[in-house]
Amino acid sequence: MKIADILALAPVIPVLVIDDLAHAVPLGRALVAGGLPVLEITLRTPVAMQCLERMAGEIEGAVVGAGTVLTPSQRQAVADVGARFAVSPGLIEGETDEGPVPLLPGIATATELMAGLAAGFGHFKLFPANIVGGAEALKAFASPFPQAKFCPTGGVNAKNAPDYLALPNVVCVGGSWVAPTDAVRAGDWGRIEALAREAAALPRN
Ligand code: 3PG
Repeated sequence: MKIADILALAPVIPVLVIDDLAHAVPLGRALVAGGLPVLEITLRTPVAMQCLERMAGEIEGAVVGAGTVLTPSQRQAVADVGARFAVSPGLIEGETDEGPVPLLPGIATATELMAGLAAGFGHFKLFPANIVGGAEALKAFASPFPQAKFCPTGGVNAKNAPDYLALPNVVCVGGSWVAPTDAVRAGDWGRIEALAREAAALPRN
């Protein structure tokens, strides 16, 4: 699957920071049951790689990828444990559209976007979306860069997601709001499934 096909699967990609390996599979199943099959497991906790491997292997219907991928070797490592895509907060020097797993690089400026386009990418994470101009920044990018498509992430929530999803150059958004830390720690999978269901119903342009 190419990154374009993955981003087309749902309007929201849950961005997950998982501290406890025991939470990984039930959390992923709740999100998939709610209608969000694309899951981004951030490499920010000691158990992240194990969570990724387990979720990639055990959750039917999920497309599991890695987030916070910062280096070429991490891109390879997440591919090796079954990630179907990788997300980075920025451009990874030397990395192109070709690689062991599709990569969604982050950009925040026109210059970074131009470097990403030159490296062969067509899809970008706008990060941190709400800080670097939000929907207005994406409207401004649309005219000089009609070929670029975005998944804004960073400060996106149920309230502002519709503003992003209405834009023609936005394919989906990313965010952690569908898996609140307190709900994960409490094992409140019902609440997470309900949040996922609401997110999955958000209309796209
Ligand atoms: C990330 O951490 O990659 C995203 O910025 C998640 O941001 P959020 O917690 O504001 O949704």
